[in-house]
Amino acid sequence: MHIVFRRAAAILLASTFAGLVWGQGAADKTASRPLPASLADDASPIFGVTIPSGYRQWELVAPSHEAGRLDELRGVLGNRIALAAYRENTLPFPDGTILVKLAWKHVASDELEGAFVPGRPTTVQVMVKDSARYAATGGWGFGRFIGGKPVDEAQHETCYACHAANVKSHDLVFTRYAP
Ligand code: HEC
Repeated sequence: MHIVFRRAAAILLASTFAGLVWGQGAADKTASRPLPASLADDASPIFGVTIPSGYRQWELVAPSHEAGRLDELRGVLGNRIALAAYRENTLPFPDGTILVKLAWKHVASDELEGAFVPGRPTTVQVMVKDSARYAATGGWGFGRFIGGKPVDEAQHETCYACHAANVKSHDLVFTRYAP
């Protein structure tokens, strides 16, 4: 028991230290810096973004639907900083803003014809605003997760390109607040 505890404490210390070193270094380096192995497992490549804890309790900004090949229902949630910015029409979004987009397959309800409901969950996507750390990508860090694990680097190279090409005038954010 004792040994297990000591080992857990050592791991905790080591990972806290790794986090500190990484956090400090990140401010003045570009976002393409490789991640330390201890963080790479659940953090997105390129950006080092993780799924924020407690996000499922956050407020809804708006739902969306993508027809076509993916055919998904989505919900975009935001933390307090994000919601305050939406309510006050603050642009650009302040540092600390986090937006999370959940997506599910769009399926017909078994219970009522003509009704559609979320099917299996597909991706969780995250945008984190940190204007110093992510200066090279408009101040935003991106993460796309499937089953809680980040997808590959190639997919993460597409995020900024599409968001910047289409919604530069809205600080790279597509979703508007749905009252
Ligand atoms: C081809 C264009 C395109 C690419 C590539 C893309 N997105 Fe988006 N993203 C959108 C659109 C359009 C929305 C608006 C909501 C929707 O359609 O569901 C969106 C919404 C979001 C949102 C909610 C905030 C907002 O801007 O509305 C997050 C978070 C997000 N995307 C993350 C990502 C991540 C992470 C990647 C890369 C792994 C990525 N996106 C790649 C088009 C794109």
